[in-house]
Amino acid sequence: MKIAFVGCGYVADFYATTLPNHPGIELTTVWDRDPKRLEAFCKHWHVKPAQSLDAVLNDKSIAMVVNLTNPSSHYEVSKAALLAGKHVYSEKPLAMQVEHAHELVELAEHSGLQLGGAPCTLLGEAAQTAWKAVREGKIGTPRLAYAELDDGPIHLMGMRDWKSASGAAWPWRDELEVGCTLEHAGYYASWLIAMFGSVKRVTAFSTLVAPDKGVPTPAQPDMSIGILEHVNGVTSRITCTIYASHDHSLRIFGDEGVLVVGECWDYGSSVGVYPRGDVGLRGEKYLSGLHKVGVGLLPVPLVRKPTFAWKTRGANRMDFARGPAELAEAIGQRRTPRLSARFSLHLNEVVLALDARKTGGRTVTMSTHCETPQPMPWAA
Ligand SMILES: NC(=O)c1ccc[n+]([C@@H]2O[C@H](COP(=O)([O-])OP(=O)(O)OC[C@H]3O[C@@H](n4cnc5c(N)ncnc54)[C@H](O)[C@@H]3O)[C@@H](O)[C@H]2O)c1
Repeated sequence: MKIAFVGCGYVADFYATTLPNHPGIELTTVWDRDPKRLEAFCKHWHVKPAQSLDAVLNDKSIAMVVNLTNPSSHYEVSKAALLAGKHVYSEKPLAMQVEHAHELVELAEHSGLQLGGAPCTLLGEAAQTAWKAVREGKIGTPRLAYAELDDGPIHLMGMRDWKSASGAAWPWRDELEVGCTLEHAGYYASWLIAMFGSVKRVTAFSTLVAPDKGVPTPAQPDMSIGILEHVNGVTSRITCTIYASHDHSLRIFGDEGVLVVGECWDYGSSVGVYPRGDVGLRGEKYLSGLHKVGVGLLPVPLVRKPTFAWKTRGANRMDFARGPAELAEAIGQRRTPRLSARFSLHLNEVVLALDARKTGGRTVTMSTHCETPQPMPWAA
């Protein structure tokens, strides 16, 4: 399938690096409204620049647009692509308003097109391994999950100097405005929705813990804590900050053990289980705090080794192009994509509720739900 990127910024380099992992999709042209960025990206990756967005949309050979623009442009670019008859894979979030995300999904369904969305870490080896372990009852009945998406105080970590392979500056201003919850909550919310079903209600709180970041930006929250109530009765808690020290771990607590994932941005992350049967003096070992240093952890081998190309300077072991590749494969096989439009819509609604800027701590009942996606064939 021939595809085009719209948006040639920081993340586009991660997609370009991982495209060779997926011979089923071929990047034929790219577009960015910033001419300098377009030129730098095309020079670095030896790809043909389009003359305009319309030129991409009018090119009949292109079946899918991969929308890698900033979140504020997602809706308009995805809508234009769908109206032009293109399948769309969008970076997250699908839209900044749930009504816009609804509209995109309805437009896609009405037009017989597929619309899929990032993040695609759920399709990764670590997520698929953890999910399989839960399905196979390795921790008994799961009841509670704690997901951490703490990125550290990025304003003290040289964020203004971060550059991608083709020289795009990390868009710190946009990231701070969009906020760490809209940027990051989806990485684990997508896993939790796949594992425990749609979310019925979200209760979340967000605030600004570090107002002075040394840069002139609007005062947007840099911390959120949210509770998800899943249809199957599991409760999960997601924390997002760009202040607390780095922690991207996930713990799922079940009647017979605790499943632990070390890092959701590493497709080859460690996955392990602390069996609950290991009872010590005054309670279980994993309640004693020993689990924090890995004592008693039984590693769960990954269902498949993550042996794919991924490396650009400073990049996590993530196969970004796996998302659009999976969408293209689903279109070819006439099946529902794993990261389907309805899955992405529900995820979008959950993440907007977790952001809590509009809801201010109120419990919000979700208006959407989705089917559980199929596991990857190698993890079924
Ligand atoms: N930066 C990261 O590390 C990272 C990682 C994963 C996902 N993402 C996601 O990727 C998306 C893009 O982020 P980024 O970091 O690449 O941002 P960026 O600012 O570096 O790049 C976005 C590019 O899109 C272009 N653009 C914006 N609106 C456009 C429009 N209407 N038409 C054409 N071009 C347009 C901009 O000119 C810019 O070059 C976001 O949704 C972000 O959440 C970013």
